[in-house]
Amino acid sequence: MTQTWWKESVIYQIYPRSFKDSNGDGIGDLRGIIEKLDYLKELGVDILWLSPIYASPNDDNGYDISDYYSIMPEFGNMDDFDELLAGIHDRGMKLVMDLVVNHTSDEHDWFRASRQSRDNPYRDFYIWKPEKPNNWQSFFSGDAWTLDPATGEYYLHLFSRRQPDLNWENPGVRQEIYKMMRFWLDKGIDGFRMDVIPFISKRLDFPDADFSDFGKVVEEVYANGPRLHEFLQEMYREALADYDVMTVGEAPGVPPGLANLYVGESRKELSMIFHFGHMFLDWGPKSKFDVRPWSLPEFKQVFLDWHRAVGEEGWISIFLDNHDFPRVVSRWGNDDRYRVESAKMLAILLLTLRGTPSLYQGTEIGMTNVAFSTIEDYRDIETLNAWKAAATAGADLDQLMKGIHRQGRDNVRTPMQWTDSPNAGFTAGQAPWIKVNPNYPHINADAVLKDPDSIFYFYQKLLALRKQHPTLIYGDFEPMAMDHERLFAYKRWDENGVYAVYLNFSDEILADLPHPGEGEYSWLTGNYGPVGSPVAPLRAWEGRVWRGEV
Ligand code: NOJ
Repeated sequence: MTQTWWKESVIYQIYPRSFKDSNGDGIGDLRGIIEKLDYLKELGVDILWLSPIYASPNDDNGYDISDYYSIMPEFGNMDDFDELLAGIHDRGMKLVMDLVVNHTSDEHDWFRASRQSRDNPYRDFYIWKPEKPNNWQSFFSGDAWTLDPATGEYYLHLFSRRQPDLNWENPGVRQEIYKMMRFWLDKGIDGFRMDVIPFISKRLDFPDADFSDFGKVVEEVYANGPRLHEFLQEMYREALADYDVMTVGEAPGVPPGLANLYVGESRKELSMIFHFGHMFLDWGPKSKFDVRPWSLPEFKQVFLDWHRAVGEEGWISIFLDNHDFPRVVSRWGNDDRYRVESAKMLAILLLTLRGTPSLYQGTEIGMTNVAFSTIEDYRDIETLNAWKAAATAGADLDQLMKGIHRQGRDNVRTPMQWTDSPNAGFTAGQAPWIKVNPNYPHINADAVLKDPDSIFYFYQKLLALRKQHPTLIYGDFEPMAMDHERLFAYKRWDENGVYAVYLNFSDEILADLPHPGEGEYSWLTGNYGPVGSPVAPLRAWEGRVWRGEV
């Protein structure tokens, strides 16, 4: 397998709107990120991925772009961007931008022109139909087709009606996108995270879909379209091949069996993808807000399936949370009594699986979900649309609110908690664009930086450890005790060494652990401190890594 910098790196995702506000307007910005570069360097991450910072009316917080060549004024300007990029490079880190090209904003010039008349030269940049061709639903509730009164036709939008889908069948669209990618690459950025990239090639027969299982619709109808790989190979040739950059495709709807079509090295498409197997485990079949329990064996199976699927030919990125999903410690750990222990245990998981780890802002300080009591405090279009749809249908709104507390995207979009001062030190202004999590007086960056035993320093230690032990990066992965309901245990090994990882996903003490096999094992790291034997009982949410003598 090829060894390369992006396999050896760790990604840190910044949601700029919520990271740090430098000018008191309540909205995070680029100068705020610049202020915190030393903090990120101290943590020890390698690649910063910024959620979109381009001009946008913010119907979906920047995932609706109105101009790919300019910076959202609330975030700053191109000089700020250049300074940020230089600051990142000066510190030996890299910058990855979000590439959102399945759709634009309805305020993009292309769409403004496209909607003007049926024979406008930009008409074909989007997907227009005289009648609604099918029953497709948008990810943000309601029809995926909207009638535009100006020309009396419907346009497709898999997300909000203000995010019309681009028509990738049109070579003019593709050339515009490659040109724009080269613009940013020529500025010296180090790669792209590609938003819903499996959706860009549409099924031109536009079949009806069965929405009793939304996950299946995504996989079989929205993602993996007929010309997708042709487009990705073209994009590689025309925009990426000349640069030493990485790409990571956001890949909802891609099952393990299709993985290497995207990331198989010889195919020259993407460096890696984010897979979603574990992310949908607790979604009910109809909606993410209709939460169902998840089990550890199925969680483990996801990682094993993906590991086997990519094998030696491809590579994936591993994430446990991002700007679209609940906080890692609230979802997979215990964010109450064992918040610190379980956050550290999950850090071990993230940093010892095979794949490039990606962590989301605030995870390193153990930030948790938030539970606002009123819908007025929520900002996310997905949540607000689901609420409106439920209210119109006369559905149980209390039940929905419980689902929002568990699954809503605003759980991870509350401002980064820097200090215990008002608004968590995120803004010097009166009102952040979304309220801070009320737990900031005790969960904040200042506090973890003062405590040598904190989650932050545990991440710092593990990030360094991963670099010192390349087996944790490139080594094979072999789980133990797959059926165990509370234990996630596995080995990583190659010619340089063998490592055994034991993670307790429960409040209980776990005894009767599986033995890692022949040889002497010494304790390498853990969230509770050293013990004598790899099979010594694991305490609540304990995680340990052992190094074997081979
Ligand atoms: C996936 C992004 O991660 C999400 O935040 C966004 O709403 C949709 N794609 C649409 O761009």
